[in-house]
Amino acid sequence: MFSPKKMVKRFLVQTPVGGFLLMPFRFATALRHYAPKLKYIPSWTFSSRETTNFTYEITVKNQEYLAHTVSVVTGVPYSTAAGYLREIQEDENIKRHVVERVRKGPKRRASDETCAFGRRVGWYAFVRILKPRVVVETGVDKGLGSVLLCAALMRNQAEGFPGQYFGTDINPDAGFLLAEPYNSVGRILYGDSIQSLQSIPSIDLFVNDSDHSAQYERREYETIAPKLSNRGLILGDNCHCNDVLADFSAMRGRQFVFFREEPRDHWYPGGGIGISFVRDFFPTQRPSARALVAEERFHSALDADALDSDRFPSPVMVGQSKAE
Ligand SMILES: C[S@@+](CC[C@H](N)C(=O)[O-])C[C@H]1O[C@@H](n2cnc3c(N)ncnc32)[C@H](O)[C@@H]1O
Repeated sequence: MFSPKKMVKRFLVQTPVGGFLLMPFRFATALRHYAPKLKYIPSWTFSSRETTNFTYEITVKNQEYLAHTVSVVTGVPYSTAAGYLREIQEDENIKRHVVERVRKGPKRRASDETCAFGRRVGWYAFVRILKPRVVVETGVDKGLGSVLLCAALMRNQAEGFPGQYFGTDINPDAGFLLAEPYNSVGRILYGDSIQSLQSIPSIDLFVNDSDHSAQYERREYETIAPKLSNRGLILGDNCHCNDVLADFSAMRGRQFVFFREEPRDHWYPGGGIGISFVRDFFPTQRPSARALVAEERFHSALDADALDSDRFPSPVMVGQSKAE
């Protein structure tokens, strides 16, 4: 049984002027998809101080999808992944720490006094599951990712799996959230990321979030490739803008998935997490046609000076055995 509205539409589309008369319907249909976000803009404009790197929580459904994504990538059960997402969201110490540091920090006039990690909770779950020895994040800004990643490493350490965090940033004021106790397992290297990365001998989990030009992002992946184990994980924070990490993954025989973030009660459409990983059960896979095309595109776009001659990664363990 059709509603009266549907019957009117069905009638109108069959008339010569139906296309014209249905314009308001079409406009309303399109608007319905965007209006829910538009309504947050006026209140945010007046209440928030943020101008960039916006903070918000993600929706409940999105958290569920994130737990599934982490589970598929790492092979742990959904309940384990969801448990780690809950662990960081229920951590009152880190929330207090962030709010207090924001209140006193150099960016207090451009920050909201809240602690909302958004998609970064997925980064946390990966560190808790994979127990990496060395975690690197390029681009730290205030240091929201830094404290979260260090919190994960501290919990790993308490369970007998020690690890270290290195953040990089070109801005000497960046990273002010990374203070005690979180700085016991991590520190910031100031200067250009590519240069800082060259001083780090091995990396188990890499987060790219610095200069977001495609060319710079490519150079970061090329720089870390020889330092990353075959099972090392790369998380790209720019994958909603370009396919650099997808191409890099195809070219290197790595798997790639993209998790789309859905902010809760915020106008921002959301970023995402690009996840580049290697499945143990595809160790000798031959490059596909897609991989060969990706390789050509990747290298033609890459600054020749930035190419590292050693393009094949050396083995570094992720998923370490428990420290004695
Ligand atoms: C989007 S913010 C990082 C956000 C952070 N990862 C977080 O979780 O909140 C990007 C940061 O990259 C830094 N940056 C930009 N270009 C850089 C470069 N060439 N080397 C190092 N850091 C850079 C900026 O100073 C900025 O703090």
